[in-house]
Amino acid sequence: MTNKQPIGIFDSGVGGTSIWKEINTLLPNEQTIYLADSANAPYGPKGKNAIIDLCVKNTEYLLKENCKLIVVACNTATTNAIDYLRSNYTVPFIGIEPAIKPAALQTKTNAIGILATKGTLTSELFSKTSNLFTNNIKVIEQIGNGIVELIENGKLQSDEMKSLLRVYLDPMIKANIDYLVLGCTHYPYLIPMLLELLPKHVKIIDSGEAVARQTKAVLERYDMLNTLSIKAKPQFYTNGAIEVITSLLGENFDVDYLDF
Ligand code: DGL
Repeated sequence: MTNKQPIGIFDSGVGGTSIWKEINTLLPNEQTIYLADSANAPYGPKGKNAIIDLCVKNTEYLLKENCKLIVVACNTATTNAIDYLRSNYTVPFIGIEPAIKPAALQTKTNAIGILATKGTLTSELFSKTSNLFTNNIKVIEQIGNGIVELIENGKLQSDEMKSLLRVYLDPMIKANIDYLVLGCTHYPYLIPMLLELLPKHVKIIDSGEAVARQTKAVLERYDMLNTLSIKAKPQFYTNGAIEVITSLLGENFDVDYLDF
């Protein structure tokens, strides 16, 4: 591995671009290749084995592109497949999990909300982390059915989205949560709408910045940081609609359709 090789990033779709943005801010010299597996979104309702197969497909493509490290920019993929990936490939993998720990440590009302996919909330990794940190805390778990589909269909800002979120937040607001954990990389794009719907005292946490910091730490540990002072040009591939990913990234990026 050399430090000039790209970092590979994949998600079940366009949501992981929220993680790409954090990585690109912290590590602007790193070359990145992003795969949006939108044709197979959502991963959330699929079983563990199906999720592992999709992660293997994405990983194989990124390894063919010579990536030095892979960021699994999807909570559902991480909680179901990262152990498999780490034991079957030698490249380092960075995963993302819902930030339950900081929410559990900081709550004053002793109630926190977690919005994530079914695949994440029913995974063993999630239960393990949750059990470790949430003794004596009320945890309101909510599956975000339909949210990823709306985002993947270009309906981030829609009345349908607002109505869904109202339903999902209602039990959390009734339980007096003071922290809402976003356990899916599509959800940071909902923050403006969530802030409108939540009481003012509720803080929203996601794991994007932590993933970028961890990516940097691992690159340093393996002596793989790109030390060139040239700003890298990222490459985005989607097997879905180009306009959906472009609407989240802006027009100034190279996005290509790829049947991977
Ligand atoms: N962005 C994925 C995550 O973080 C969405 C999963 C899905 O496709 O259901 O979990």
